[in-house]
Amino acid sequence: MKADFGVIGLAVMGQNLVLNVEDKGFSVAVFNRTAERTKEFVENRAQGKKIVPAYSLEEFVEALTRPRKILIMVKAGAPVDAVLEGLYPLLERGDLVIDGGNSHHDDTERRIKEAEERGFLYLGVGISGGEYGALRGPSIMAGGHREGYELVQGIFEAIAAKGPDGPCCAYFGPGSAGHYVKMVHNGIEYAIMETIVEAYDLMKRGLGMSPDEMAGVFGDWNRRELGGYLFEITERILHYKDPETGEPLVELILDTAKQKGTGKWSTQSALDLGTPVPTIAMAVFARIISAFKEERVVASKVLPGPDPALGTDREEFVRRLFGAVYLSVIAAYAQGLRQLRDASSERCYGLDLSEAARVWMAGCIIRSVLLVPIRKVLLDNPELPLLFLAEPFKSAWAEYHGDLRWVTARAHEHGIPTPAMDSALTFVDAFRTERLPANLIQAQRDFFGAHTYQRIDKEGTFHTDWEAVA
Ligand SMILES: NC(=O)c1ccc[n+]([C@@H]2O[C@H](COP(=O)([O-])OP(=O)(O)OC[C@H]3O[C@@H](n4cnc5c(N)ncnc54)[C@H](OP(=O)(O)O)[C@@H]3O)[C@@H](O)[C@H]2O)c1
Repeated sequence: MKADFGVIGLAVMGQNLVLNVEDKGFSVAVFNRTAERTKEFVENRAQGKKIVPAYSLEEFVEALTRPRKILIMVKAGAPVDAVLEGLYPLLERGDLVIDGGNSHHDDTERRIKEAEERGFLYLGVGISGGEYGALRGPSIMAGGHREGYELVQGIFEAIAAKGPDGPCCAYFGPGSAGHYVKMVHNGIEYAIMETIVEAYDLMKRGLGMSPDEMAGVFGDWNRRELGGYLFEITERILHYKDPETGEPLVELILDTAKQKGTGKWSTQSALDLGTPVPTIAMAVFARIISAFKEERVVASKVLPGPDPALGTDREEFVRRLFGAVYLSVIAAYAQGLRQLRDASSERCYGLDLSEAARVWMAGCIIRSVLLVPIRKVLLDNPELPLLFLAEPFKSAWAEYHGDLRWVTARAHEHGIPTPAMDSALTFVDAFRTERLPANLIQAQRDFFGAHTYQRIDKEGTFHTDWEAVA
């Protein structure tokens, strides 16, 4: 008897996806480059399940029903190409290869062309939800050959998280559409995480609150308009005590964060597109600065700044901090969705943005109650330039922008960095400004480079000999 589905790569994500697929009634053939890992898996977690181990790619391919449906879950980058190189000579026309890792969209475009030339179907699929999601129900963002998606739609819908509006999986379009949506998902994730840590820093250094007290605030927000996974885990992290010392574990963790790639790629792609994602970009830069630990320690001793203690009423500050965080989180979604809109028209993905909001409602890291109104807005007006222009986000801006200004002003006065909140505020302020000072930029460019400029009082392109005028 041959297996319905195949998985290559048995690290944490691969193993959990195999168990999830098997749990939904499908048999799964598995292969991993290092045989020990396969052996360990079949002898432990895969015991008694419809899971067929293979110790060579030939054996693995042989074990699958046709057309073969093969999910690759290995480290992104060169390892994916290494697997494909070994796999392609063994496949037959019409077989489907799915890359479920966090591959760069340009790599996915190239690999789809290569697969096509060989007569294979190919999907680039973003899978979010971490190891728990992979096992219990991830959010699945697929792109590539539609016929390929149809072959696995049943399996994907069975294993995906179940959201309020259906299984959290969708086909987003041709080429790298799925990996692109996942990349922007991760960019939004960076921005929300940075916003949360800024609120934590303000409460900790600014108000002197304990981790348990801060957990209470995040828990309250999580039960209100900011309900979502990242707020939920922040509450739990802040309550967690180190078993060894009894101290809050978070305070024993080194203050340097890594940025693995997708946040950076999201920002790089936004720059290429000319689409503004300042809150996502600032979140990436904040992690980069955090990594300069030794330099920060030196600078902390030589560069003076104000006392971080805010000296304001705690209750009032926390109340207004909610508004600041709420708008910054909306700004993160607004920027990411705008990027998807612009990428879709530039790269011809034909993305349905409301589907992105639907698929992000459960299973993934950025799941949030906010995605319900976001989806509704996008269904009503798919071409909306910015979420803040539609209700309920228009009213949210009107109600809370004063809080965002007040909180960031206090942060600046007391030397506590809030790059995500600052960028959310200045982004919307720039967006809602009828006349920005870019007229002076045009004049400067024309002065030093004869780049020409447009005028507001007449049509045409102009150049001035500024030196002569001066
Ligand atoms: N971890 C997460 O929470 C998460 C969430 C979403 C998406 N992802 C993405 O999912 C993918 C898998 O993630 P992961 O954390 O489970 O594993 P990982 O640590 O990214 O990769 C380890 C797997 O890649 C295999 N591998 C590495 N180089 C290889 C090569 N040259 N040829 C063949 N196989 C090779 C390893 O095989 P050996 O055992 O032989 O070394 C192992 O199976 C990645 O793209 C990751 O970015 C991860």
